[in-house]
Amino acid sequence: MEKTLVIIKPGAIQRGLIGEVIHRFERKGLQVCGIKMTQLTEEILAEHYAHLVQRPFFKRIKDSMMITPVIVCCLKGLDAVHIVHEMAGKTNGREAALGTIRGDFSMSVQENIIHTSDNVENAKTELARFFNQNEIFEFDQHNLNFLYANDEI
Ligand code: PPS
Repeated sequence: MEKTLVIIKPGAIQRGLIGEVIHRFERKGLQVCGIKMTQLTEEILAEHYAHLVQRPFFKRIKDSMMITPVIVCCLKGLDAVHIVHEMAGKTNGREAALGTIRGDFSMSVQENIIHTSDNVENAKTELARFFNQNEIFEFDQHNLNFLYANDEI
């Protein structure tokens, strides 16, 4: 089973979309195995968005991520990294397909509701960035036999 990171961004917090976002992932069958509210800092965002440092919007996106605390979630499931990234939809909310989280709730590239890890390696790095080891829990998911066939898990 893979684990992946979701950050529910300040715009979604202000718009009262925390429950809506988490509800979608739970209904899909992903297990929430870590969740907390945290205030992001310049330091952690400089690390998280290091690949965007040369982009003109780098400061703007960092500032927008610090306006309120965020919710960070660790979600677990078969192919969770790809599934969660697909459920988020395209980066630009105006281009994201209806039915995806951004397609349904975002009109913006920057104010695009959530961040999701884009590959398995980044998911590991990002989870370690935002969670201490003891904040990610391993516990039985009792509906597994109803979510998957036994040759899938
Ligand atoms: S990239 O590098 O832009 O092609 O990559 P992408 O994954 O699409 O976007 C990475 C994050 O940068 C944010 N982004 C922007 N913010 C503000 N303005 C503009 N123009 C812009 N373009 C991209 C985008 O919201 C992504 O944030 P995360 O947190 O990863 O979703």
